[in-house]
Amino acid sequence: MTASLDFSADTLLLGRRICGGSPMQDETNPKKPERKIKNSLLLGYDLRRNTPIYISLNQSHVILILGPRGSGKTWIERGAGNRLFDQGHNCFYASDIKNEMASNSFPVQEKFMDKLAPGESPKGYPFQAFYPQLLAAYKGKMPKGNKRIQLSFTDLELADFLNFFGVGDGDDTKRQILVTLFDKVRKKEAVSFDRLKIELDLLPFPMTTKQSILNTINNLEQYQVLGDEYPFSELTDALNNDSMASLNLFGFDEIDSSAGYPQLYVGLALRKIFREKKAKRLPRPLDVFIDEAQRFIPALGNPACKKDIMDIINEGRSAGISVWLATQNLGNIDERVASQARFILLPWTAQRPEYEPVLRACGLWTIDESRSAQWQHYWRNLPKYSWCLINMSSKEVKAFMPLAPLAMHTQETR
Ligand SMILES: Nc1ncnc2c1ncn2[C@@H]1O[C@H](COP(=O)(O)OP(=O)(O)OP(=O)(O)O)[C@@H](O)[C@H]1O
Ligand SMILES: [Mg+2]
Repeated sequence: MTASLDFSADTLLLGRRICGGSPMQDETNPKKPERKIKNSLLLGYDLRRNTPIYISLNQSHVILILGPRGSGKTWIERGAGNRLFDQGHNCFYASDIKNEMASNSFPVQEKFMDKLAPGESPKGYPFQAFYPQLLAAYKGKMPKGNKRIQLSFTDLELADFLNFFGVGDGDDTKRQILVTLFDKVRKKEAVSFDRLKIELDLLPFPMTTKQSILNTINNLEQYQVLGDEYPFSELTDALNNDSMASLNLFGFDEIDSSAGYPQLYVGLALRKIFREKKAKRLPRPLDVFIDEAQRFIPALGNPACKKDIMDIINEGRSAGISVWLATQNLGNIDERVASQARFILLPWTAQRPEYEPVLRACGLWTIDESRSAQWQHYWRNLPKYSWCLINMSSKEVKAFMPLAPLAMHTQETR
């Protein structure tokens, strides 16, 4: 789509300009785009490549990236993380299912150089990936350069413990046993698998109920889900040590994730980081990226990390945490997320199921069929690789060409 078409589509739609436009744009010199605007994250330039499109960093935000497979969601996350880090932020990629993020250590490939902003050059970043011991034990190997991480008995809260055993609210015998057992964990009287089994054996409950609990304990032991060798504190240490970090979940799809063990790692990482941030032990502004968000905060279902993610979405901003969530469309994730989102990013490949709910949520999609058709026309005409930044407060829609990451982008699972 050409720039003029883009502009006429805006005018057509709302009778006012909705694309491009920035309070600080340099109208006088369109050939030399401004590279930086104070305390803001540069995402790219509008389709005429003269207006910087950016997100203010004066406060923290919840940002959604919605797009079909292969549309460049992770590319956007990586580019944002690189530039945020350069502006003094901490960056944590909380759910790297494809083992993509460790390539942040290397400079971006030659072929993407023309997509950097003036003055930028390819670069690698200090980066540490953490790999759950559960996945290392399951796969029998560790991805190169990763550090192991493991949940400790003392990290657990009652809800996590009950989650392991597939027990929610309610008041059945199984729950009663688990609450009693967890009390032993909490008092540090049962912080090993052997101890837990002994305590279970001592409890005066029917053998049939105890057997199913014992089976799960054996499972947890076999998968090495819990242990004290590789503490989570190393993750916050890495962030404080001027490094980006990720939780590498490579193998997530191979393991039976219905038991929620890998998700619990995400939940616990976020819980710990949030606590550290509140206690001011992570002084820099923090950006948390949750890729494949539908697996961690799904519309339906309640994996172990859902509450932790929701907490950080609802309350993280005041502690200086921005949360970026990437998924295919709004309907995939918990409906409470959309109301917290300040910005939504949608790519040129978005189809009606992706953009309609977003435009509806900010009141830009009317029941008037001709308006809907105009939006469809607008989206069909977006050029390859362009994105739209939708400000959910001001209801502005800005089409732009995203900048490339400064670090290497890999999509391959390795
Ligand atoms: N703006 C762009 N310019 C050039 N190439 C791009 C751009 N955005 C993405 N790509 C290419 O598209 C590929 C897929 O991008 P990316 O991995 O970010 O997609 P994704 O939306 O995260 O996909 P998935 O849903 O499968 O995780 C990248 O490896 C890159 O080569
Ligand atoms: Mg991706």
